[in-house]
Amino acid sequence: MADKVYRASTTAPVNIAVVKYWGKRDAKLNLPTNSSLSVTLSQDDLRTLTTASASASYSGDDTLILNGEVSDISGARTQACLRELRARRAALEAANSDLPKLSTYPLKIVSENNFPTAAGLASSAAGFAALVRAIADLYELPESPSDLSLIARQGSGSACRSLFGGYVAWRMGEQADGLDSRADLVAEASHWPDMRALILVVSAAKKGVSSSSGMQQTVATSGMFKERITTVVPKMMDLMEESIKNKDFEQFAEVTMRDSNSFHATCADTYPPIFYMNDVSKTAIRAVEYINAKAGRTVAAYTFDAGPNCVVYYLEKDAPTVLGTFYQALSSVSGWKEGTASVKSEFQLED
Ligand code: PMV
Repeated sequence: MADKVYRASTTAPVNIAVVKYWGKRDAKLNLPTNSSLSVTLSQDDLRTLTTASASASYSGDDTLILNGEVSDISGARTQACLRELRARRAALEAANSDLPKLSTYPLKIVSENNFPTAAGLASSAAGFAALVRAIADLYELPESPSDLSLIARQGSGSACRSLFGGYVAWRMGEQADGLDSRADLVAEASHWPDMRALILVVSAAKKGVSSSSGMQQTVATSGMFKERITTVVPKMMDLMEESIKNKDFEQFAEVTMRDSNSFHATCADTYPPIFYMNDVSKTAIRAVEYINAKAGRTVAAYTFDAGPNCVVYYLEKDAPTVLGTFYQALSSVSGWKEGTASVKSEFQLED
């Protein structure tokens, strides 16, 4: 049937790195200068929902509607993902002549985020992961999540980690073709199910310096950057994997906060400097320190991506201490109440 519409829908969750990816060794293939590790949040909370369809009855170019508006997909990153997915489908069609020639049909993609786009809440990670998964499902590709991570990585580096739930590493790899720069699962969310994340939405505005240009500037001008990728991050990766394996929250928290500090210090070390955190973000750091000092142990860990919003990790058993004290801490730290931050929600993790 020439006018049959083939369709697949999927959701992909946001992931928040606890050891950050920052720096590209190959900008075209999105190959990183260091490995990274993230925690995937629950699909119910921060996620992209994407439907991909293809039909011989469609005419014209591929299209993407993002949050109800036509989005430009002519960029090299999106085109790389579409090209790779089509090539894999074409190979299936070449091997089996009974398959409909979906690889030759235009694609219609409809995508929706349930959170602010490009505000440092990892929207590109969920967005590209959902795009790749939806089209892979539409094309009935047999590739594993780790294989698909090679494609999602070319859309947005951090997207390769959103193809898995739980605790996910992106191994930087060494090859020039990037075939060994892929995501793998460190542990299912069920391994350490009482992990929670609280997102403080300091600002829902689009970020000032995109992650790509921030990375480019950092690689080109920061003196501290080399130390970060050669010494700091490899040690953080080992300690982070160990803390997850042993479910050692104190170690997990210390590495998370140290890595966030190291990443933002490297940004401040560029010329001219880049500041992603604002005064409200810094107040959130003080609030976490206050909570930990009051508890007499580390019960909360902050981390910030390329934007001012704060993610706080804690364990379910400490929810009353962390959440209860947070409101108290916020009111006792000057500037917070006047700030625009709001407690967005409390999220569970998901496999
Ligand atoms: O995937 P990108 O190009 O949006 O870069 C993400 C960079 C950070 O969010 C700051 C760190 C990370 O590992 O997710």
